[in-house]
Amino acid sequence: MPNETRSSFSILVLHGPNLNLLGLREPGIYGSVTLADINQLLQKEASSRSCQIETLQSNHEGVLVDAIQAARTEHHGILINAGAYTHTSVALRDALAAVAMPVVEVHLSNIYQREPFRHHSFIAPIAVGQISGFGAESYRLGLLALVHTLKTGSRAK
Ligand code: DQA
Repeated sequence: MPNETRSSFSILVLHGPNLNLLGLREPGIYGSVTLADINQLLQKEASSRSCQIETLQSNHEGVLVDAIQAARTEHHGILINAGAYTHTSVALRDALAAVAMPVVEVHLSNIYQREPFRHHSFIAPIAVGQISGFGAESYRLGLLALVHTLKTGSRAK
């Protein structure tokens, strides 16, 4: 829902399965940052841009689908790290396509440097763009790209 006259946006930040274990989970790949650290970083970044964010992590596909559907009337855009569902979930992709609002996909790791099964994303074709490989910074960059898209109605340049 791009709107050039708006100065404030509400963004839903979704974290998929196993991201609640950040800090403990495969630190060689995901580092020591926790999900709470990432949410705090995003809250800070959002408030300095007069944006609101709501964050949700779930290990359950249906919970994420429900949150995406509810976003239709509550938020202007979605920032999502769908975790492993990125590579498997037609349901998440269809929900994101159905709500028809700008979506930015992020990943902590560079999914293209990893196993071949991680190279395909069901979400990428319906997202404005994807940021992958910068650790927690992927989320911050993704938020900036989404805010830019919402403010200008165009892709990040
Ligand atoms: C991930 C990459 C996915 O392949 C993996 O299943 C995750 C995390 C990332 O942020 O790098 O759970 O989305």
